[in-house]
Order: sequence, then structure tokens, then C-alpha cells
Amino acid sequence: MRYLITGTAGFIGFHLAKRLLDEGHFVVGFDGMTQYYDVALKEKRHAILARSNGFKAQIGMLEDVDALNRAADLAEPEVIIHLAAQAGVRYSIDCPKDYVNSNLIGSWNILELAKTLQPKHLMLASTSSIYGSNEKVPFAESDRADEPMTIYAATKKSMELMAHSYAHLHKVPTTAFRFFTVYGPWGRPDMALFKFVDAILKGEPIDIYGEGQMSRDFTYIDDLVEGIVRLSHIAPSEDNRVTEEGVTDTLSKHAPFRVVNIGGGQPVELMRFVETVETVLGQKAIRNMLPMQQGDVPRTFASPDLLRALTGYAPDITIETGVAAFVEWYRSWQSGKA
Ligand SMILES: NC(=O)c1ccc[n+]([C@@H]2O[C@H](COP(=O)([O-])OP(=O)(O)OC[C@H]3O[C@@H](n4cnc5c(N)ncnc54)[C@H](O)[C@@H]3O)[C@@H](O)[C@H]2O)c1
Repeated sequence: MRYLITGTAGFIGFHLAKRLLDEGHFVVGFDGMTQYYDVALKEKRHAILARSNGFKAQIGMLEDVDALNRAADLAEPEVIIHLAAQAGVRYSIDCPKDYVNSNLIGSWNILELAKTLQPKHLMLASTSSIYGSNEKVPFAESDRADEPMTIYAATKKSMELMAHSYAHLHKVPTTAFRFFTVYGPWGRPDMALFKFVDAILKGEPIDIYGEGQMSRDFTYIDDLVEGIVRLSHIAPSEDNRVTEEGVTDTLSKHAPFRVVNIGGGQPVELMRFVETVETVLGQKAIRNMLPMQQGDVPRTFASPDLLRALTGYAPDITIETGVAAFVEWYRSWQSGKA
């Protein structure tokens, strides 16, 4: 298969592209190498992908239509997977414009591209953040998700809505998947696991927000990639409408469009997460307990029912296994061996 994947120098795009390349597919990876975090980490990810003959990198911004067209010409994709975005909940409070540019204009450019290219399947990365502070758990895709707490969540929800209208008008089968706190080797330096491990090993304090009362439905990267790959074969259509009792399919009545959570439905309390990191490192953290930050939500908790009904699969790698894999990678990255 021929894939165009945006965000391949990023954490998730790198792992997804690597898996597809290992399976013998052709992947064009599009990424703007933004300065949001250490560009050396992004370059290293792309260098690893470039070891495969099936990989072609295109460096460019989503906002640059000519650059996107060049990537499309090279890829002639059967599947487009759009992962590039300005991510991060907290940064969105200080720099909202980056989110509007990358996630609204950039994603709209991807929709326009798909309108022209008519791939078999367009897949878009959305987020658990769009559930806001919903109290009903687990979060099901059919739950109301109209009260975003940050511009990050608002831009992702907007992307879903724009994509529905394009799927209706231009008939490109489109899946928007909602990810839940993804972690693992080659992970993002702005996320808690990276920051905690880094600080603990340096003997520096870690900031624990919400006085440790928050919980997150962590998804290990291999589980996430498995979910994406399985869903990639299920382009939304009436032929695969889920009729299983107790599961609400989000397949639209008006468009080949569906939203799917990719999360395991096993939220972890923040303090258990910290203790797991301490155990794996064999070192205690200096804990700096702080109130909840602006824009944070108290919990995330995925219902994996729709994902399981569609693919027969749901994430199940434990936090202990996943944190250990991250720490092993982190040590080799720090020592220059990764
Ligand atoms: N990691 C998570 O826990 C998580 C959770 C929910 C949703 N998501 C979503 O999954 C996707 C991938 O996340 P990630 O963790 O790999 O993030 P990441 O920041 O590691 O990767 C995103 C990549 O997109 C690129 N990029 C950003 N803006 C761009 C632009 N305007 N033009 C071109 N390239 C641009 C960056 O250079 C980066 O390499 C994002 O859409 C994110 O919102 C991630």
C-alpha cells in the first residue's frame, strides 16, 4: 500500500511509519520539523525511517499548499494518515495561534488534498481532550464533547467537524481517532513521563499537578499503532456499521465518517503513575505538589468498545511494562546509543 503520513518526525508518526515500512509498504512522511521541542529528536526519528528504501521524507509545513502537493505527487497515496499538529494542552494557553495555523488551516489543507486525491481512506488524529471535563465515564464517542477546555481541544474538535462536512460533500471515507495520553520510547519531551524520568534521574523535583488527584488513560505506543493499522483497513461505510448490542457506532448517517477512541479503558491515578516510574528507576522522586493547572482536566477514561467491535482489539499493555520500555530507551538516548 502507498501511504502519505503527516507528522512522521513526531512521536506517533515515527512509530506508525516504522511499522508500515517494516511490513513492506511505501510511505511518504511529511513534517515541518517545528521548534516546539528538540528538533534533534525529530531528525533522529526521520534518520531511522530513512534507513528503509520505502520511505521518502518531505519537509514542509501543513500551511504550505505547494509543499503538500509535492508530497502528494510523490506519494500517490491510497491512505492518508494526518498526525502532524501543534500538540500539547498547556502550551495552547500561551500560543493559541500555532494551533489555529497547524490544526485548523493545516488540517483543512489536508481535507482539500484528500478531496483532490480521493484516497481509499483518510485518517485524522484527534484527542481525548475534546471530552473536556465530562463526568460520565468511560468516555464514549457518542457522548457530548462540545465544551473544550483549551484551544488545543477546540481546534481538534473543529477538525472533526470540518472532516465530516468534507466526507459528506466529497465522499472520502474518513476516520477521526481520539488518542488517550500516548507514551513509550522516542516519546515527547513535553509530556509527563519524559519530564518525570529526566528530573528524577537528575535529582530534581517533579511537578505533580492537581495535588496528584488526576488520572489518565495511558496508551502504550505499540497498542496505539496496532489500533491505527487495524482501523486503516476499515474505511467507514454502511458495510461495516456496528450493530453489536451495547455499542453505539458513530458512523454518520450522512457521510462515510466515523470517530473512534483508541484507549484501553484502564485509567491510572497520577500517584500510581509516579510510583511506577520510581519503581522502574529504583529512585524516589522529590514531589512538588501543585494545584491543577489552567486547561487541565481531572480525568480521561476511554471506552474501547467501538474500537473492539470494529477491530477485535483494544490496548492492553500495562503501565509497568510500558514505563520500563520507555526508561530503557531514555537511558540509551541520553547516552547517545539510541
Ligand atoms: N501523544 C499523545 O498523547 C496524543 C494524544 C492525543 C492526540 N495526539 C495527537 O496525535 C498526533 C501526533 O502526536 P505526537 O505525540 O506524535 O506529537 P509530536 O509533536 O511528536 O508530532 C507532531 C509532528 O507534527 C509536526 N508539525 C507540527 N505542526 C506542523 C505543521 N504546521 N506543519 C507540518 N508539520 C507540523 C511536528 O514537527 C511534529 O514532528 C497529533 O495530532 C496530536 O495532537 C497525541
